[in-house]
Amino acid sequence: MAEDTDITSVVAYKGGVGKSLLAYELAYLLDAVLVDLDWDRGGVTRQWGYRHEDRIRSPLLDAFDKGKAPTPLQGYRKPLLVPSHPDLATNQPPADYVADQLEAWAQAWGRPVVVDTHPGGCETTYGAASAGRVVVCPSPLATKELEALEGMLDELADYPLLIVPNKVPRVPPAAEVARLGRLVKAAKVPVGPPVSFHYWLERRKIRVAVTSYDPVPARVKALDDELRAVAETVRGYGRHT
Ligand SMILES: Nc1ncnc2c1ncn2[C@@H]1O[C@H](COP(=O)(O)OP(=O)(O)OP(=O)(O)O)[C@@H](O)[C@H]1O
Ligand SMILES: [Mg+2]
Repeated sequence: MAEDTDITSVVAYKGGVGKSLLAYELAYLLDAVLVDLDWDRGGVTRQWGYRHEDRIRSPLLDAFDKGKAPTPLQGYRKPLLVPSHPDLATNQPPADYVADQLEAWAQAWGRPVVVDTHPGGCETTYGAASAGRVVVCPSPLATKELEALEGMLDELADYPLLIVPNKVPRVPPAAEVARLGRLVKAAKVPVGPPVSFHYWLERRKIRVAVTSYDPVPARVKALDDELRAVAETVRGYGRHT
């Protein structure tokens, strides 16, 4: 990680855990450029309203090709975005190159960067992780998700990880809470503020950031508060020890 860049990478070795939700909202709250390194549909690029089918070129793939910072897209009540492209799946640059590029782009833009990633270990995800000042790992309290987290803690032990329990039910499952406690203690990794399960999120079709409301509607308030707490923890991560 370069000293003068501020990159937050959102990484998990499991799909559907809340990476894209956190990446989108953190980017909005931190006034960062959101770089989408997940080539599958159903991620932040689509949520933002970008359709690669309507475009001839891909800003992301062109930027990797040329080694030059792409121009982020601007939206209303949405983060600045470098959208992804399906061809990234088979055209992933090596991890070191991805990391170097992200740092160079962050420097060129002169603002923080948040990176959303494809689930699991792949070149772009390793690149994002090694460029990160913070590597945020959303983790539901469930068997397979904790299994995947354990694998990730093994593999990325020396990265600046921050675990964020996500989709936490009103009554958190005691056995899973205990297991998470054991995992993070063994790995010496900090746990950030949790995000509860909010039933309406799964069917939400609105593109603006959840945290972009002013005033904040009653239904959104609890999630808005939780996401702001995560953003604060990310801001302060490793900065006052
Ligand atoms: N705290 C939450 N409460 C309720 N639903 C949530 C919560 N966090 C995420 N979701 C929902 O779970 C689904 C998966 O979330 P998201 O797309 O952010 O995960 P992901 O890790 O990016 O998935 P993928 O690996 O497929 O990219 C989405 O429908 C999202 O709205
Ligand atoms: Mg995603």
